[in-house]
Amino acid sequence: MTGMSGSESPDERLRVVVVGAGAMGGEWLRMLARSAHAEPVGVVDLDVDLATRTVSSIGLADAVVGSSLADVVKRSGARAVINVTVPQAHRVVNEEAMRSGLPVLCEKPLAPTVSEALRQVALADLTGGLLMASQSRRYFRHLAAFRDAAAQLGALGAVHAQFFHEDHEPGFREQMAHPLLVDMSVHHFDMLRYLTVDEPVSVRCDSWNPPWSWFAGDAAATATFDLASGARFVYSGSRCTPGLQTSWNADWHVYGEAGAAHWDGDHLVQADAAGVAVEVGESSEGIEGALEEFVGALATGNTPQNEVRTNVMTLAMVEGAIRSSERGGDRVVLADLLEESLAQAIADERSGDVVEVLRSWPSAAEAIATPPWGTSPQSVPHASGGAR
Ligand SMILES: NC(=O)c1ccc[n+]([C@@H]2O[C@H](COP(=O)([O-])OP(=O)(O)OC[C@H]3O[C@@H](n4cnc5c(N)ncnc54)[C@H](O)[C@@H]3O)[C@@H](O)[C@H]2O)c1
Repeated sequence: MTGMSGSESPDERLRVVVVGAGAMGGEWLRMLARSAHAEPVGVVDLDVDLATRTVSSIGLADAVVGSSLADVVKRSGARAVINVTVPQAHRVVNEEAMRSGLPVLCEKPLAPTVSEALRQVALADLTGGLLMASQSRRYFRHLAAFRDAAAQLGALGAVHAQFFHEDHEPGFREQMAHPLLVDMSVHHFDMLRYLTVDEPVSVRCDSWNPPWSWFAGDAAATATFDLASGARFVYSGSRCTPGLQTSWNADWHVYGEAGAAHWDGDHLVQADAAGVAVEVGESSEGIEGALEEFVGALATGNTPQNEVRTNVMTLAMVEGAIRSSERGGDRVVLADLLEESLAQAIADERSGDVVEVLRSWPSAAEAIATPPWGTSPQSVPHASGGAR
């Protein structure tokens, strides 16, 4: 197991390199500059001028800047990598870091496809290092309160989430084939997995691009997931809706045996069920919450939420929805998608040692079921105050 090996004492901030100094890289660096848990000692971007401007605008005078991860790690003495590059670059950057023995916290989506994610699982098997996806929208105090309320409703019949937003972010998003599902719904699908103890089994989806959309790909979709318990997750979303916008976190309802609950995605949580009180606790939110879980996992050996193996099912929800939409709304079974993705991963992978690991798996489902990283059982608590 690769942990926080080396000279760090618990009181020291983890020395990290941020790869990708674009809009979100800047957000990470601003947060890290004031973090008690990690220290940004290096910044890597293909565009070194951009990285230099970002670093100086935040006042990180001592951070090492460059275009080569290996070089910046060497010069800065970094002990971990935070990958905030565009989604297509995530795998390559994660692989370089893992091969160098560095743990990685990677922005969502961990990979554009499940097969690319499985190749990273295999490399994590091989190196024993920690690769965690930063699904930062799991880390909201009001979502935790909503989850606690939902847990008191008995068996759930349905979970509904609606996301309607007017979103102008020129760059890779406006060029993607599925800017809603791949770049945004990945958050909401992951939040569903946090919210319930259920797992998605299959999906039917329809995606389209409204005529006025400024996105090249499908900016709108509806999707219905069958969950293992028999409940349904009913999702609808759009990124080009200039009116009655929801929170970035979407607007959520759960309907259960003993009542219902609602979260507006921001600060309103309501329960309509006898004896269910809503209590909002204290915890770090957004990327700060993800960072704290990552640093904590390195210090304790605990397996974090969205360790690469766990995150694969979130990505399968996204890819399953896309596949269904491309097949006219046909039902896509996620277990089938997983095994087809393993065959694709074996076909695409060029590193012999990773191919060997992929071929050794009895199935993709089994490979992602048992996280070898860390010493503790999978940590996805269903009670307030757990690691979020
Ligand atoms: N968690 C959230 O709420 C949230 C919000 C916004 C973006 N994001 C995620 O953050 C990531 C980055 O988004 P963004 O909006 O900052 O994109 P961006 O295009 O503004 O920045 C990406 C940067 O990565 C650099 N880059 C690309 N390939 C690289 C490589 N191989 N090595 C080094 N640098 C490379 C680019 O030069 C660019 O500067 C995406 O995965 C996105 O989905 C997450």
